[in-house]
Amino acid sequence: MSTPPAVAWAGADPYAAALRTGRGPLFLRRSDGWLLPLEVERWCARADPVDRAVLDRCEGTVLDVGCGPGRLVAELAVRGRTVLGIDVSEAAVEHTVRLGGQALCRSVFEPLPGEGRWGTVLLMDGNIGIGGDPRALLDRVAHLLCPGGLLIAETAPVDVDERSEVRVVAGTGAGTGGGVFPWARLGTPALLRYAGRAGWRAVGQWTAGGRRFAALRGLPRSRPRRASSRAEPPNSTALISSQRARKPSGDRPVAER
Ligand SMILES: C[S@@+](CC[C@H](N)C(=O)[O-])C[C@H]1O[C@@H](n2cnc3c(N)ncnc32)[C@H](O)[C@@H]1O
Repeated sequence: MSTPPAVAWAGADPYAAALRTGRGPLFLRRSDGWLLPLEVERWCARADPVDRAVLDRCEGTVLDVGCGPGRLVAELAVRGRTVLGIDVSEAAVEHTVRLGGQALCRSVFEPLPGEGRWGTVLLMDGNIGIGGDPRALLDRVAHLLCPGGLLIAETAPVDVDERSEVRVVAGTGAGTGGGVFPWARLGTPALLRYAGRAGWRAVGQWTAGGRRFAALRGLPRSRPRRASSRAEPPNSTALISSQRARKPSGDRPVAER
């Protein structure tokens, strides 16, 4: 599997600045000028009732992919679940750790602890768009989950299936932002189409607070996995890093606190 160049969020100063203040405005801006508002205030707040209802559905150990500032990781940790957040943004990982969560500064497409053993993978707040290639992301998540494991994804509230090049910007003007990176927006019907073709089983879809979600179960049988003699099991010991892994092949937390 090729690794999408999806780490541009990591160098997006407007994103890091917004996470520091807990405030927007912040947008994903397409080259044609179209703006997708990013809900930084909600992400930096505590998990709300809609989030908590999603977390009630989690099974086993939880990997929050693109955890952002970590409200979900923190809430799951308080509940006593083994949970790890991963994010390419150092500012996001630092925020998550400050909230008391465990987080690793790593792309979902890089080697991760516990590959093939996570009980639940979360792709919240539109994170099904990570990498701009839903098929590749679903395939990657299938390799992260245990056989029959659960994926909970938040989809776009409209029926859309879109891939574009975007950048993170702080204002509505053309001004500068972070680097350009591929992103996807998927409504539930599109997600279910991709997932169905890849052998996933839809086990739920719901709307709450104007947000839409789908729950999918991976294949029950074991799948061929990429050999990784360094894969670590999901566990509750320190996996915290506030520093990006310098080498994608390094599968260890690079700085523990
Ligand atoms: C739409 S925001 C979601 C915010 C987040 N779910 C929260 O609770 O605040 C997307 C997040 O995914 C992260 N991200 C982007 N590409 C990633 C990748 N390849 N691997 C892991 N995280 C990624 C970004 O840094 C950003 O924090």
